[in-house]
Amino acid sequence: MTNVPPPPPIPSQVPPPPAPHASPTSSAYVAQPAPPAPPLPRQRADNEVLAVTNLSKWFGDVVAVSDISFGLGPGVTALLGPNGAGKSTTLRMIAGLAAPSQGTVEVFGADPRKDKDVRGRIGIVPQQESLFQEQRAIEFVALAGVLNGLMDPTGRAREVLEIVELDPADTRPISSYSKGMRQRVKVAQALIHKPELLLLDEPLTGLDPRQRLHMTQLIRSLGEAGVCVVVSSHVLDEVERLGSRVMVIAQGRLAAQGDFHEIRALMDDRPHRIRVRSSNARTLGGVLLTGSGIAGLTVVDGESLIVDTDDAATFRGTIAAVAQAADVRLLEVQPLDDDLESVFKYLVGR
Ligand SMILES: Nc1ncnc2c1ncn2[C@@H]1O[C@H](COP(=O)(O)OP(=O)(O)OP(=O)(O)O)[C@@H](O)[C@H]1O
Ligand SMILES: [Mg+2]
Repeated sequence: MTNVPPPPPIPSQVPPPPAPHASPTSSAYVAQPAPPAPPLPRQRADNEVLAVTNLSKWFGDVVAVSDISFGLGPGVTALLGPNGAGKSTTLRMIAGLAAPSQGTVEVFGADPRKDKDVRGRIGIVPQQESLFQEQRAIEFVALAGVLNGLMDPTGRAREVLEIVELDPADTRPISSYSKGMRQRVKVAQALIHKPELLLLDEPLTGLDPRQRLHMTQLIRSLGEAGVCVVVSSHVLDEVERLGSRVMVIAQGRLAAQGDFHEIRALMDDRPHRIRVRSSNARTLGGVLLTGSGIAGLTVVDGESLIVDTDDAATFRGTIAAVAQAADVRLLEVQPLDDDLESVFKYLVGR
């Protein structure tokens, strides 16, 4: 499930069309070579909004995105990856803001760098702040409406500010806003023209828990309303709350995809390193070694030992009972490699 399957072979040619019925008596008939067959489009779902095919981007020697392919329909998809994985570069290419070095992006079947109409169906919230700080939120968002050719940019700006729970009548400049409020201004301007494809680059960063909950709900509701939403994140827990499909990107490559639970299971399946502190590391270590699922064990000092296990879930579930049976008091069980970075390294290295 979570391994990215190899793309289906793409036939380079359709079978030649049947030869026209040749009537030997027809003088009008002249044998012609068969016309070149048009390339067969990649097999795609009926409701596909976005198709990325063999997409790569490099900056000099740095390969930011390396040969990724996927298709998306309506609903929320998370692009999960550590710093420098290629998330922003991918989103920028999908939005038509950056040119691919290789491969193609199609949104509603067209190239967003060439097709203005298709660009008008895309909304993007960039990672960096690109707000005019001295404007009021309503002015800034209405300006986006003007740039999109809306009939009533201010009226629509009011609507989208209310959608993101900001006060359209607020007279304060954006520079006085909190990070969370600024993030919501960015989302409001991206929604101004009711995009069918919405790209959000780390929209939850900098929000407090309440704001994060609200933003998460907003993203989910847009997905449920049929918008194709792609949300980048480097935090697995954020992605869980989005309830979305997850694509893991690491070192520019698509490393895995599935729903949150599948990605979580993949993380649990990998080898884990766990530090266990107890009242007697030597005794506990000896008992653990008689059990199964322990790939390595080092006693660090009287209290601490480091365990390598291929089955972290079972280890977590049984360590307390094992310690109790050995009459050892358990002080702490701490995963040493539960950060996403090591998970991604594992996924990429498989
Ligand atoms: N304009 C650029 N010029 C040179 N290198 C770039 C440029 N943009 C991105 N890169 C490099 O490409 C790689 C991918 O960067 P990108 O910003 O897409 O990653 P990211 O997943 O969005 O990271 P973050 O989580 O830090 O936002 C990085 O090594 C980055 O340094
Ligand atoms: Mg980024």
